[in-house]
Parts: sequence; structure tokens; C-alpha cells
Amino acid sequence: MNVELTTRVMTADRAAFRAAAQSLAAGGLVAFPTETVYGLGADATNAEAVARLYAAKGRPRFNPLIAHVADLTAARRLARLDALADRLGAAFWPGALTIVAEQAPGCPVCALATAGLETIAVRVPDHPVAREILSAFARPVVAPSANRSGHVSPTRAEHVIADLGGRIHLVVDGGPTPMGIESTIVACLGGRPVLLRPGAIARSDIERVLGDTLADRQPASGDREGAVAAPGMLASHYAPRARLRRNVRSVEPGEALLAFGTSLPAHADRAIAILNLSAAGDLVEAAAKLFAHLRALDASGAAVIAVMPIPGVGLGEAINDRLARAAAPRPQSETTV
Ligand code: TXA
Ligand code: MG
Repeated sequence: MNVELTTRVMTADRAAFRAAAQSLAAGGLVAFPTETVYGLGADATNAEAVARLYAAKGRPRFNPLIAHVADLTAARRLARLDALADRLGAAFWPGALTIVAEQAPGCPVCALATAGLETIAVRVPDHPVAREILSAFARPVVAPSANRSGHVSPTRAEHVIADLGGRIHLVVDGGPTPMGIESTIVACLGGRPVLLRPGAIARSDIERVLGDTLADRQPASGDREGAVAAPGMLASHYAPRARLRRNVRSVEPGEALLAFGTSLPAHADRAIAILNLSAAGDLVEAAAKLFAHLRALDASGAAVIAVMPIPGVGLGEAINDRLARAAAPRPQSETTV
């Protein structure tokens, strides 16, 4: 992101909560404390805001994000919580537990925020400032840790400003975060719940509530980066049924075309469906539309989705990473968490 913003810093009070909710509603990026670490919030239902969030963090990839909501009822609107997830939510929410579950029907969170997955990570944080902002905004807020990609998670407003000053709209300063380590992530997708990321709530506390041991995350055999991949970066990412052909200069008969910019490739008229990521050549717009367009073109029934070249700068790096993963041959043994 090249545009330098003025980052407002406000002490956590009524005026700050109102400003945070207004900024989020306008598609802004707002950092706020949770009991674990500071999060960088964006309206989870606004794909352009989420694209700007990835750009501000400088993430080279679209990691799926955690959707933060005010209570268990709001969580149920996003995720299908089975009996075990429900028990964990009742025991640990509000708190430092994130639950990954199937998305609920009609889940309003945009596909970019879940990186196109069928699942979603949900958390009800237990910090007065996070709770005030979430109830003032009354919509789900995605919030990765409020640091630049590759840096450690921030536990003070000053850390956020050092990393993201000039790249986000508002920092609500609520002092140091009490726990200082990220939430524990547990996937409840049928069968035994899986510990995806150890965190602020101990495994033993979760196991006590479940009355059973947590399963450990299996390294996905299909993941070319093996064990170093972060949770959510496994072979689980949405992969279209159609094959992807990238950097096309000429469309073959029967292909669907994923376009970018105004000058279409040769024989674009052969395409059975065409969707443009951004006619204006804007990478933020393109990121916001990527997963929805891939799904729609997949639904066209074409065997091949032809993808025009996308410049590798800014969010283009993450877009190309995602396209490369979607284009890679898939092994049989993929897991789905
Ligand atoms: O304490 C925390 O969890 C902080 C505060 C701000 O809530 N947030 C945080 O977010 O640590 P982030 O984006 O830095 O880490 C979220 C992790 C990522 O490793 C991501 O891959 C994983 O959650 N994740 C999100 N959705 C997922 C999904 N559907 N399946 C598997 N993993 C998922
Ligand atoms: Mg992080």
C-alpha cells in the first residue's frame, strides 16, 4: 500500500468506540486491544476493506482471518457450532479461544476473509475495549494481529503504531494487553476437535471441558511447504474443480476467463464466461473479488479457468500465490481443516 494515511490514536473511551464503529462502517482499518494481542480490525462483510487490511499488513498470502463477534448468538450466525463447539464456546467465551467450524448458511463474512474456505474461525474476545467496539459496530470484525507480516504480535498501542502507523486509520489505545499471546485455535469439524494453534488457553483446560484429548494437527501431505505452513495455509484452501491455466495470452474454446485490466487476451470471445477482477487494474479491487470470481467461474462448468497475468506488486503477490496454489495439482490425501 503506497498511500500514506493519517493514523489517529485515541485513548479508549466512548468517543473512541464511536469513532471505531464509524471507521469500520466506512471500510476503515482500526486497531484495538483484545485480551491476547492487539488486532487490526476491518468489517468482515466488506471485501474491499479486507483487501486493504491484507495490503496494510503486507501479507504475501491470504491467510484466513478470525471473525470477532460480541457473543455466542452472533457466533452462531457465522459458524455451525456442533455440540462440542457449543460446549467450548459456553465454557471459554468471552475469552482467548478461537473455534474453527463449518460456515453457517448465509454467513455474511466475505470469501476473502476466509480465504475461500468453507470453514470459518470465530472468537468472542474478552477485553472491555474489544467488546465495546464490537457491540457498537454490531457486525463481525476480522482482526489478525496488528503487526506487519513477519513481525511479532503487538501487545501495546506503541507496537501497532511502530508497525502500521501511516497504513491504518485508527488505533484505540487500551494499554498493554493482559495475556500477550494469541488465542488458542481449535477446529470442531466433526470427530475429535483438533488443536490448530496452541495459545493463551492451555490444552489441558480445553481437554478438561471436552472430557477428551484434543487431536493434533496433521501436517497436510499435499502441502509443498510441509510443517512450516501456518494453520490455515494447508492444502485446505478452496481449490476450484476446474483446472487453472495462468498467464494466458490467448483463450482456448470452452474456457472460462478470469480477466484483469482492460485489454483482454486474444480470442476472448471463445470464453463461455468472463469475469474481470478489476477493469481499472486495481489490485485491491482484484483481491476483494478473487475468491468470489473463482467460485462463479467454477460454477460455469468450464473445465479450465484461463487467468490473465496479474502484476506481482503489492497485493498482486498474494493474488498470484493464491492462484498458484489453486493451479497446483492436488493430491488425494488432503485434509479439510
Ligand atoms: O489472539 C488472536 O487470535 C489474535 C487476536 C487479534 O484475536 N488474532 C490472531 O490472528 O492471532 P492471526 O490472523 O494473526 O492468526 C489467525 C490464525 C492464522 O494462523 C490462520 O491461518 C488461522 O487463524 N485460521 C483462520 N481461519 C482459519 C480456518 N478457517 N481454518 C484454519 N485456520 C484458520
Ligand atoms: Mg498474527
